[in-house]
Amino acid sequence: MTIKSLLFVLVLIVGFAALLAEAQSLGRVLALTQIRGTLFCSINGSNSRITPVFPNALVQLQCGTGNVVASATTNTAGGFSILLDPLQFVRLLLLTNCDLVVKTPLATCNSSLPTNGILISTLQFLGRTVGSIINIIPGSFIFQLN
Ligand SMILES: *[C@@H]1O[C@H](CO)[C@@H](O)[C@H](O)[C@H]1NC(C)=O
Ligand SMILES: *[C@@H]1O[C@H](CO)[C@@H](O)[C@H](O)[C@H]1NC(C)=O
Repeated sequence: MTIKSLLFVLVLIVGFAALLAEAQSLGRVLALTQIRGTLFCSINGSNSRITPVFPNALVQLQCGTGNVVASATTNTAGGFSILLDPLQFVRLLLLTNCDLVVKTPLATCNSSLPTNGILISTLQFLGRTVGSIINIIPGSFIFQLN
C-alpha cells in the first residue's frame, strides 16, 4: 500500500466514526413528541377565569409554508393532543418551523366573536416526561384575519 492509499483509508475510517457519533446523538434527540393544550373561547384563545373552553375546534399543525402536517379536534373540555412520530420530526425544527392553527371560527363557540379569521400560535418546549416523551405546548394564540 502506498502512503496515499493508506491516508485515504484513514480518512474513510475517521469519517465513518464521525457519522456514527452523529447518528447516536440524533437518536437521543428523536423521541415521541406530544403537543397538547387547552383552547378557550376568546379572541386570543387563552384563559381568563370567566372564559369558557372551545370544544369541537379543529386544530392543525402547520409547518413551512402552511403545510398541514397533523390535526386534532378539541374535546368537551377544550383539550387537544397531537402525537408525532419520532422519526417524522425533530423538535428544533418543530419549534422554529411550525405553528398551531385553529380553523374552526370563533363564532362557533360564541356568536359575538368573529365568523372569519384564525387563531394561531407558535410552539414552545415544555420539557421531557419519564419515558422521554417530548412535551410541546402552544406559546399563546393570537387572532389573525385570513
Ligand atoms: C385574551 O383575551 C382575554 C379575554 O378577552 C383577556 O382577558 C386577556 O387579557 C387576553 N390575553 C392576552 C394575552 O391578550
Ligand atoms: C362572548 O364574547 C363576548 C365578546 O368577547 C363576551 O363579551 C362574552 O362574555 C362572551 N360570552 C361568553 C358566554 O363567554
